Amino acid sequence: MAVGDMLGYGKWWIGSLFGSKAPLVNTLIIHYECNLRCKHCSIHSSGIEGMGKSKLSYEEITDDLKYQFGRGARIAYFEGGEPTMWSDRGKDFGDLIKAAKDIGYKNVGYTTNGTTKFFTGSDVISVSLDGPREINDLIRGEGVFDKLMENISATDFSGSIYANMVLQKDNIDHIEEVASTVRDNKKLAGVIFNFITPPPYDIALTHEEKKAAIEKIRELKKKGYPVLNSKRGLELLAEEDWSKKCPYHVTVFIVPDGSHFDGCPMQNTPSCKQCGFAAVREYYLIKRGSVSTISEMSSIFAMSKK
Ligand SMILES: C[S@@+](CC[C@H](N)C(=O)[O-])C[C@H]1O[C@@H](n2cnc3c(N)ncnc32)[C@H](O)[C@@H]1O
Ligand code: SF4
Repeated sequence: MAVGDMLGYGKWWIGSLFGSKAPLVNTLIIHYECNLRCKHCSIHSSGIEGMGKSKLSYEEITDDLKYQFGRGARIAYFEGGEPTMWSDRGKDFGDLIKAAKDIGYKNVGYTTNGTTKFFTGSDVISVSLDGPREINDLIRGEGVFDKLMENISATDFSGSIYANMVLQKDNIDHIEEVASTVRDNKKLAGVIFNFITPPPYDIALTHEEKKAAIEKIRELKKKGYPVLNSKRGLELLAEEDWSKKCPYHVTVFIVPDGSHFDGCPMQNTPSCKQCGFAAVREYYLIKRGSVSTISEMSSIFAMSKK
């Protein structure tokens, strides 16, 4: 990580210790459009029809990027829907990445299902991988695994690509296969494991299933598989109710109808009581000054390509 990056993050962290509520990460859900209908998708299971306006314009996005940069955010993360499919009056997703970099964000990333096109201007790309071929495609749709792997091998992206797996009923027994797939793919830096955060509820895991999965992941990490969850972050994945502990201000959100949230848009909903997002644990640890988590996370997620 560049020295300038480190100083910027250090400044944020010291401010945070003294009670500053400046955000570190700006997460932008830029639209709900998607070419897939994954079984566990919280966005599609919530019924986007009832959510009002479903896309942010170029100006809304760039205004938000500037506003949150002014408040202190230095990491911008684009989400959807499928962010790579976003377009607005001649602008495409690559223009959003460029705008974020031009504004000064140190680290720009996005999560993608990997079936469309990789935009290579970002620092980090997170690809969703929910199992070996058959299981991934049972969850994400036929042909998705092969298309994702084809796009990963074809890209000349020079930043860090990591896999994001969401553990749920269908893939709970396939953790090691995914860890092996990632370890054997030279373009993938590692995998971060999450539990499904309901909705949908019918494929959520029991507490016992989660504890067994965490034990399995800990063993794999110990054996040297590229598990990106920090050691302490993994332990905290077993704690389900984050409604009182969520480190809300670390990340701010904008959603497609233009609403801003200081913290998770799901806060104070029943989902908080079964939160499975690994990032929430890592943000919590970073905010509390866990040196090991800060160094584990920053080497992958906070570095810029330059
Ligand atoms: C909403 S998607 C948007 C980006 C892109 N369409 C994709 O699938 O990677 C972002 C990430 O959230 C995960 N996700 C979706 N629904 C979830 C849920 N109910 N609980 C936890 N993670 C979820 C997806 O698997 C994906 O890795
Ligand atoms: S690809 Fe992403 S946004 Fe689309 S349905 Fe799957 S998880 Fe949801």
